[in-house]
Order: sequence, then C-alpha cells, then structure tokens
Amino acid sequence: MKNVLVVSGHPHLDDDSVANKALVDKLSEKDGYTIDRLDALYPAYEINVQAEQSKLVAADVIVLQYPVFWYGMPALMQKWMEDVFLHGFSHGSKGKALVGKKLVVSMTVGAPEEAYGEGAAVHIEDLLLPAKGACALTGMEFAGYEYTCGVSYASRVDDAARDAIAKAGREQADRVAELIEKL
Ligand SMILES: Cc1cc2nc3c(=O)[nH]c(=O)nc-3n(C[C@H](O)[C@H](O)[C@H](O)COP(=O)(O)O)c2cc1C
Repeated sequence: MKNVLVVSGHPHLDDDSVANKALVDKLSEKDGYTIDRLDALYPAYEINVQAEQSKLVAADVIVLQYPVFWYGMPALMQKWMEDVFLHGFSHGSKGKALVGKKLVVSMTVGAPEEAYGEGAAVHIEDLLLPAKGACALTGMEFAGYEYTCGVSYASRVDDAARDAIAKAGREQADRVAELIEKL
C-alpha cells in the first residue's frame, strides 16, 4: 500500500471551510492516508521543521491540498514550504530526501471555470507552476492535479449551496484517490 501524506494548507479548516473540510475528511477515510493539518498543528505559523521533514521522508505520495488564495497557496502552506524545503534536505548537492516521491496538487478555486479557461489571463494550469518548479528542483515527480472551481464564499448562499460545495469536495477527494491508485 502506498504511504500518502496529504498536507492541508487551509488556514481555518474548522471555522470557515466547506470544500476543503469535506475533501480532507473524505481523504482521511482512505487506507494509507495521513492528513497533515497545518492549521491545527501550527496556528501561530511556527512550523516544526524536523517533524514535517520526517513526514515527507516517510511518504511515497505527497498531496498538496489547498484553497487557491491570490493565485497561489495560502500563506500558511507557503511558509511550510519555505521552512521545510531546505537546501541540504530537498535540494542542493546533498539534498536528496524527496527524490522519486510523487507530488499531487489538489486545489479548490473560488472563481468559475471560465475564469481560468481558454483565453483567460491565467489558465488553471498556470497555478501549478510553483509545484512543478519544486518538483524540478527536488527530483519529485509531478504526478497530476485535481481541482474544483466555483466554491467561493459568495456562492455559499444557503444550506443547499453549502451542501453542493461539500459534495463537490468529496467528489474531488475521490478523484484524487483514483489518481493516486493509478500511480
Ligand atoms: C484571501 C483569499 C484569496 C483568494 N484568492 C482567490 C484567487 O486568487 N482565485 C480564486 O479563484 N479564488 C480565490 N479565493 C477563493 C477561495 O479559493 C475559496 O474561498 C476556497 O477555495 C473555498 O474553499 P473552502 O470552502 O475550503 O474555504 C480566495 C479566497 C480568500 C479568502
């Protein structure tokens, strides 16, 4: 069985998340999956670098699970990456700890699909650039991505809308697991 580490970068999973909460909860039910909830572990953004590096070393597949904030990952996850992916660990002549691991990106996106489609200023795949760059530098394999558009705060107009967003999150979790199954 693959050892899958899901790093969750939503800063407030219990407070104001619908899509990521449903998604992470669903992934936590899958065999072999470990959920690394950065919001619960590091509410003050003080990352335990050694603990996080150990989790990465133990993983075969690393999933970056996050809501797109300003065309990137939330500050908490960005800080996790900056603190943990250190020269001598993940890159550099002696930094080989992540070589051969598979990286999957799983994003939730507030704007509708057409905002990132053909002819848009930013295509959905442009959002993958930091992850792909990190793979190139560290020797990880970029193994694919999943996303759901249209899950903004503004679209949570009533219980039915929230339920639909949570359902979309759970469906994305299943797609992520299917993708990983095939790796
Ligand atoms: C600070 C902030 C920045 C955001 N930036 C973007 C953005 O650049 N593009 C976008 O499509 N949605 C953006 N959103 C919307 C989030 O992606 C959306 O709220 C999130 O994916 C919903 O997931 P959740 O239900 O788990 O909170 C932003 C939201 C916040 C709070």
